[in-house]
Amino acid sequence: MNTPESHILVIFGASGDLTKRKLIPAICKLHNGKRLPEKFAILGASRTEMTDEEFRESVTDFLPKDDDQCKCDEFLEKLYYQPLGTADADEYGKLKDRLEELKEKLDIPGNYIFYLSTPPKLYGVIPANLASVGLNQQEDGYTRLIVEKPFGNNLETAQKLNKELLNYFDEKQIYRIDHYLGKETVQNMLVARFSNGIFEPIWNRNFIERVEISSAESLGVEGRGGYYDQSGAMRDMVQNHLLQLVGMVGMEPPVVAEADAIRNETLKVFQSLRPLEPEEIRSNVIRGQYMESRIKNEQVKGYRGEKGVDPESRTETFLAMKFYIDNWRWAGVPFYLRTGKKLPTRVTEVVIKFRPTPHHLFQEDGVTAHVTNQLIIRIQPDEGILLKFGLKEPGAGFRVQPVNMDFHYSDLSDVELPTAYERLLLDCMMGDQTLYLRGDAVEAAWRFVQPILNAWEENPSLPIYGYPAGSWGPQEADDLIEGEDTWRYPCKNLSDDGTYCEL
Ligand code: BG6
Repeated sequence: MNTPESHILVIFGASGDLTKRKLIPAICKLHNGKRLPEKFAILGASRTEMTDEEFRESVTDFLPKDDDQCKCDEFLEKLYYQPLGTADADEYGKLKDRLEELKEKLDIPGNYIFYLSTPPKLYGVIPANLASVGLNQQEDGYTRLIVEKPFGNNLETAQKLNKELLNYFDEKQIYRIDHYLGKETVQNMLVARFSNGIFEPIWNRNFIERVEISSAESLGVEGRGGYYDQSGAMRDMVQNHLLQLVGMVGMEPPVVAEADAIRNETLKVFQSLRPLEPEEIRSNVIRGQYMESRIKNEQVKGYRGEKGVDPESRTETFLAMKFYIDNWRWAGVPFYLRTGKKLPTRVTEVVIKFRPTPHHLFQEDGVTAHVTNQLIIRIQPDEGILLKFGLKEPGAGFRVQPVNMDFHYSDLSDVELPTAYERLLLDCMMGDQTLYLRGDAVEAAWRFVQPILNAWEENPSLPIYGYPAGSWGPQEADDLIEGEDTWRYPCKNLSDDGTYCEL
């Protein structure tokens, strides 16, 4: 197993939630699984005054509980802390000195990864400050920059941020994170599509009737009301995570499995998204907001009653939309996206609906019997793949019965799925940008969603529908789907999608 070169990982925003809940546990897992180099250190940096020891204590409770305690203790020794006014260029001399000292003491070459896990307003400032003391230079090793989401708040700010970063770092040093790409099941879409001969010949407009991507969450805004109210489902989920899924489903086969070859193909998908005209937005993009309701006998707050949310907020907590990819493969195939907070369950999946047979041979009581073939790629939970097709019901006549063929990752009992952050951090340490976003792709995704955001802002008559917390969103989202059909209403378990589900 290859391990990365020795390096120091500097986490800006080290006293924040993301560091404790996601980054430190992921790096500890990598350490315990012997994926890190022997000579390695984490230097936390943020405004809070803390010693190395206090920093170690502040993260102890978040280390993986089921892992070997000794290994976790060994990991903690690799943690250091530097109080730093991150916004203040004058403070960066201090950071540089501390890095020099650690480098000497631990015998680590000048390889640095800088992780920006701070409020987004600092994403442009920290790189400039690093550059002011030469910490963007790669003379004595490499320097890489990981930038958390959100990457901009609209097209203009994303373009501005790209420019600011590129002033001091080049594209090969910049790792823009979208944790969806770190999910094992998202990467599996590439492998399922391009390592099998059976899917690709039918993966196009001739055989696929429509594509549906749903990402439902049962949680609400959970104390993040202040952030979410400025963001909404379009910025929080669609512009990044869900469009990345569209990229994976829609892309052409890359020539080689390398970062730029793969990222060129996803970029082409984003460039082919047909922009929605202002008059189409009302009917093709449905937004909703959850309202007070009773779930399992408990009274649940509406979105406007959440802490940090404007009591008259018009921020969408639900969004469903229909759009097209204008290219040879996908011409005329509708893509549907749906995401929301306070829906009945937590599930993310891609549903590929195939066209029916051209002629329906079998009848049941005088009615044509046919089954819609569907391939369901479950991103989470109960990660796996399900194929739905029709078979003969045993007995007289030719009754067609829908059946399932399913694969669940949990059946590979000896395989523990790594978390998205484990995968992504390790990739950055190895210098692999495949699962990180390139600047042009981020801008292309913003270019598609920006006219919709503009229309909502400029035209207050565009409706935002209320939906009871715990429901599947407003009825209008169902009306989006062409014909008699509806969305697939998934359950926790991949194969159950009957009318009754245990949620
Ligand atoms: C984050 C959003 O990027 O993704 C959250 O800010 C959302 O609002 C989360 O809940 C969803 O991620 P996951 O991995 O739980 O599907």
